[in-house]
Amino acid sequence: MLRKGRLKKCSAITNLHSQIERAVQILRQGGVVAFPTETVYGLGADAENKKAVRRIFKLKGRPVNHPLIVHLYSADMLADWAREVPPLARKLAAKFWPGPLTIILRRSQRVPDVVTGGLDTVALRVPDHPVALALLKAFGGGLAAPSANRFGCVSPTNAAHVRDEFGDALELILDGGPCHVGIESTIVDLSSKELAILRPGGVTREEIERVARQMIPVRRKSSVRAPGQFRIHYAPQAEIIVVSNTELTRYAKTLTARGRRVAVLSGALTERLPTGVVRLPAPRSSPKFARQLYALLRTADRLKMDTVLVCLPIETGLGLAIADRLRHAAGRG
Ligand code: TXA
Ligand code: MG
Repeated sequence: MLRKGRLKKCSAITNLHSQIERAVQILRQGGVVAFPTETVYGLGADAENKKAVRRIFKLKGRPVNHPLIVHLYSADMLADWAREVPPLARKLAAKFWPGPLTIILRRSQRVPDVVTGGLDTVALRVPDHPVALALLKAFGGGLAAPSANRFGCVSPTNAAHVRDEFGDALELILDGGPCHVGIESTIVDLSSKELAILRPGGVTREEIERVARQMIPVRRKSSVRAPGQFRIHYAPQAEIIVVSNTELTRYAKTLTARGRRVAVLSGALTERLPTGVVRLPAPRSSPKFARQLYALLRTADRLKMDTVLVCLPIETGLGLAIADRLRHAAGRG
């Protein structure tokens, strides 16, 4: 006889199986499906169906020259989507895929212009989430997928965030629970001799440099349409102000005295805050902070905060990506 827990697990698996089948059907018909990844939820469409990819841009309100990442089931598919796969790309893929790393390579003919905004390069990644991998395996092709949020807004890290953002505009949201990384993938450009990290993310610069056995600069201003190039990105409704730990209390007091509803987001806050100021509980550990960052920014909006004061973490390890997102949210990217 099956025990109750096992029975529940079996029916969850059957349910997931039928959800994946439905998702594949929608994708084959040129539809858009939201799905979980380890970083953030994505809004996926068949990368080879131009009409379907255009629907993503429309849903997000995203400029059409802002290229998308193509998600693949396995690194074995790299050569189908890139016309050159340098040894370092293979090395990084072997080490970090499935995982929060996106690799930019020169694109193959398989990639339509609409995915890359006309660029000669393509962004590729194999996500590390069982639901994403089951979907990609069943679908068989590549899924073009940006984060499942309106353009410029905070990325979703659970299915409810996607529902809040798009309501009934989406036919299907695959629910894979909360994302365990919580911030987007690291984007590394290997399409030319000038290697660069275009967006810090879930795999740290240090980890990549260790595998590459060389320094890789973070190129914030790029000639290509780089991630988060718009000054305000990953931003909630509330105004975000970056302050140092020593300025925090003074800012909080001044703004509160002016009648603003103020929240504070800092991983290293020990002092008491002025009355009325809300503390958004940022964990001290970087992986936990990254996991909760976007949900905390959404909380600030739910609490109708006018201003969130943030202190940037030290910019090593995951701290680099967290600081990057907070700066962009503050319009200082
Ligand atoms: O973690 C992630 O990467 C998530 C999940 C869903 O996989 N996706 C994501 O997609 O963050 P999106 O579209 O929100 O951000 C992808 C970034 C864009 O800012 C875009 O500019 C950049 O990747 N990108 C895509 N193709 C590129 C290319 N060929 N060259 C330079 N940047 C590129
Ligand atoms: Mg995004």
